Amino acid sequence: MAITGLILIGFLLMHMYGNLKMFLGAEEFDQYAEWLKGDILAPALPPGSFIWIFRVFLVAMVVLHLYSAFTLWSRAKAATPSTYQVRKTLSETYSARTMRWGGVILAGLLIFHLAQFTVHSALVNGSFASTYADSPYKMVIGEFSLWWMVLLYAIWITVVTMHVRHGFWSAFTTLGANTSAKARTVLNGCAWAVAVLLFIGFMIMPVAVLFGWIH
Ligand code: HEM
Repeated sequence: MAITGLILIGFLLMHMYGNLKMFLGAEEFDQYAEWLKGDILAPALPPGSFIWIFRVFLVAMVVLHLYSAFTLWSRAKAATPSTYQVRKTLSETYSARTMRWGGVILAGLLIFHLAQFTVHSALVNGSFASTYADSPYKMVIGEFSLWWMVLLYAIWITVVTMHVRHGFWSAFTTLGANTSAKARTVLNGCAWAVAVLLFIGFMIMPVAVLFGWIH
């Protein structure tokens, strides 16, 4: 759970950084998208193959992460037949208590996200899908010109970053970093820093599009 979770956080940081290239303009962003799907690691790998290797790896990480979650869930259930006492005595944070349902909401909106931006599903994009096909930049501008889309993403990214905040803490605790009060303070600070960085880094671009700062 810890290793796959940290790898997925690494993906989120890279994805956030990539999205910020929207501020560099259409040409830069579209070239970047094309490079990711085409020439990255060429000539070491044939053009277009990296993205599929990466997708298989990412799906494997998500599957292993979910598998670990279910295994831990059923072990915890078997170990504590009644959760009532546990709930009463543990002082968990809100993020910690919402890891399971937060994870489910996160995954549900991820499916929407992939239908919207990767599969270009007409169900999400309506009649605009074909207009955007040639330019990822135009697609992103079009999607975030809608206030409710930015709101939906703000809700999703809040859920994602709450999950990441507790997950980061939990992963490093599993890996043995949470050994003293001082270590706990540092760990907590790092978990918050990563979560806040991801929230601002992901949301600043959709907000900039909505207010017409980039177009
Ligand atoms: C404001 C936030 C986000 C924006 C604007 C955004 C934007 C995009 C765009 C434009 C693509 C499609 C790239 C292309 O196919 O040309 C994409 C793909 C993707 N996004 Fe996001 N994204 C955001 C947040 C997230 C988050 C939070 C996650 C994970 C929880 C995520 C996971 C993915 C995945 C897995 C892909 C597919 C990559 C592939 O094609 O293999 N995204 N995103």
